[in-house]
Amino acid sequence: MRTSDNVEQVMPRYYAQRAAEYERVFDKPHRQPDIATLQAWLRKQFAGRRVLEVATGTGFWLPAATADATAWLGTDLNPEVLAVAQQKPLDFHKVRFQHADAYALAATVAPGGFDAAFAGLWFSHVPMSRRAAWLAQLHACLQPGARVVLMDNRYVAGDSTPITRHDDEGNGFQQRQLSDGSTHEVLKNFPTAAEFAALLGGRAFEFRELTYFWTLVYEV
Ligand SMILES: C[S@@+](CC[C@H](N)C(=O)[O-])C[C@H]1O[C@@H](n2cnc3c(N)ncnc32)[C@H](O)[C@@H]1O
Repeated sequence: MRTSDNVEQVMPRYYAQRAAEYERVFDKPHRQPDIATLQAWLRKQFAGRRVLEVATGTGFWLPAATADATAWLGTDLNPEVLAVAQQKPLDFHKVRFQHADAYALAATVAPGGFDAAFAGLWFSHVPMSRRAAWLAQLHACLQPGARVVLMDNRYVAGDSTPITRHDDEGNGFQQRQLSDGSTHEVLKNFPTAAEFAALLGGRAFEFRELTYFWTLVYEV
């Protein structure tokens, strides 16, 4: 299967099918200290900001991340996951959700009104060849000086799902199983600070590694 078909069809379908069981991944006891650290950190990152979120999913981070934000637009391709996010204890005076393709944000998201962007556990699913273009069209939706916050998994041997193959451009793939027994091959990358330095072309950024997650912050 071509990598583009995996990213455009297999991966979104996998997350739609996983919606009801997605948040089990956050139950792992050994990850709780990192998760608590990130929740407190996200709350601070978005205080007073108008945030565009890409690939919101079930909204696991939103009670913390939106707490002190001024406005929040969560977007995702899959209605199945946004339906779960709608059930979260959130202030729906300031939090809205919208279906949007993360690779075509300008088609659905009105630009200019955002002074921050957030994508959690998303960048790892962006093929290496699409990273620069994905960031460029995200930046185009934001105000000058906006803060961009990305956060994702680190690869931890013995804990992370193993990478079973790489494609020609270096993307890794995992075999994942859902509770209905179905298996799905999902593109998953583990970017480094050096890769972000190259991608961000001289822009200052902060890349931080926890035990199970990394975070990246910079300004547009
Ligand atoms: C690993 S989940 C991340 C969910 C959430 N941000 C989190 O941190 O828990 C990846 C999400 O990407 C969404 N997704 C997949 N392809 C997408 C696309 N082309 N555009 C927007 N969202 C997409 C899936 O529906 C899923 O909710």
